[in-house]
Amino acid sequence: MIVPTNALFKHAYGKYAIGAYNINNLEQCMGLFQGNLQSKAPFIVQLSKGARSYSHKRMLESLMKTADEIFPDAVFAVHLDHGDEATCMDCINSGVYSSVMIDASHESFEKNIEITKRVVQAAHAKGLVVEAELGQLKGVEEDVHAAEHVYTNPEEAATFVKRTGCDSLACAIGTSHGAFKFKGDQKLRYDILTEIQKLLPGFPLVMHGSSSVPKEEVDRINAAGGNIKGACGVDADQFLGATKLGVTKINIDTDGRLVWCRVHREFFRDHPEMFDLRDPGKVFIPEYAKFIAAKNVKLGSAGQLDAARAFCKANQ
Ligand code: G3H
Ligand code: 13P
Ligand code: ZN
Repeated sequence: MIVPTNALFKHAYGKYAIGAYNINNLEQCMGLFQGNLQSKAPFIVQLSKGARSYSHKRMLESLMKTADEIFPDAVFAVHLDHGDEATCMDCINSGVYSSVMIDASHESFEKNIEITKRVVQAAHAKGLVVEAELGQLKGVEEDVHAAEHVYTNPEEAATFVKRTGCDSLACAIGTSHGAFKFKGDQKLRYDILTEIQKLLPGFPLVMHGSSSVPKEEVDRINAAGGNIKGACGVDADQFLGATKLGVTKINIDTDGRLVWCRVHREFFRDHPEMFDLRDPGKVFIPEYAKFIAAKNVKLGSAGQLDAARAFCKANQ
């Protein structure tokens, strides 16, 4: 069942975080749905601009519609990750998405408000909700590069939400995209979330760049011929604490890529004579499902499926 993203937020707020997982292909799609059903979790499927152009922007939307048919017990929202204005408008009009993210965080405060407001207006008119971003994650976000973290300013966040009417806010608290998040100890500014929650009680906050980059995955990739050095991620044992500060959606992409890489490197190392893409795919799908199910335990979303379904139905 494809559900409104804000219904999931209302159900989760303060109790658990919804896992928002980026996918790009059929194998990830199958593993994602299987893993969430195994762990009985509601979830968000995230499609990025890059994912949409990897095959064709309509291809993943067809997968979503078909997944909804073949996994009737799944409770999920379909979300555009890091959209620009034109991509948001395309997704709003597609009839498949539950929500879009407009990422104008690289623009000035006023310009970010101006663009976000336009997207909010178009989305709300069609019954979709909007995630916006204030502050900047260090590193690459879609096409934009920030040399340093620009932490979200809590007072600005409160003003931004009031003036744009956005429905959730991605906050920069020291995470970053990809596999190389920290040198040395993890330094996350949970104090910023505390301040934002005081000013915006009950308002859903989003943590991007939240992959854990498990050492075991990286070690196995390297043992099978990879060369990933200095990788480091976010401590998933802190997710439940973050949900008490308003974090309601947690974005995970890189960890799934690492599982993909480990499975395929090990498969072809151990079966150098094989070349059918379905053979490693048959290993990847259940491995990805296992990873999703384990992540949902850390997010607290595991076991929430039936309650979330009932809540979404009652609040239609
Ligand atoms: O925020 C970035 C996501 O991990 C999506 O990555 O743009 O390479 O699909 P992508
Ligand atoms: P990771 O790179 O940590 O998986 O973050 C993904 C993300 O924030 C997608 O928007
Ligand atoms: Zn992101």
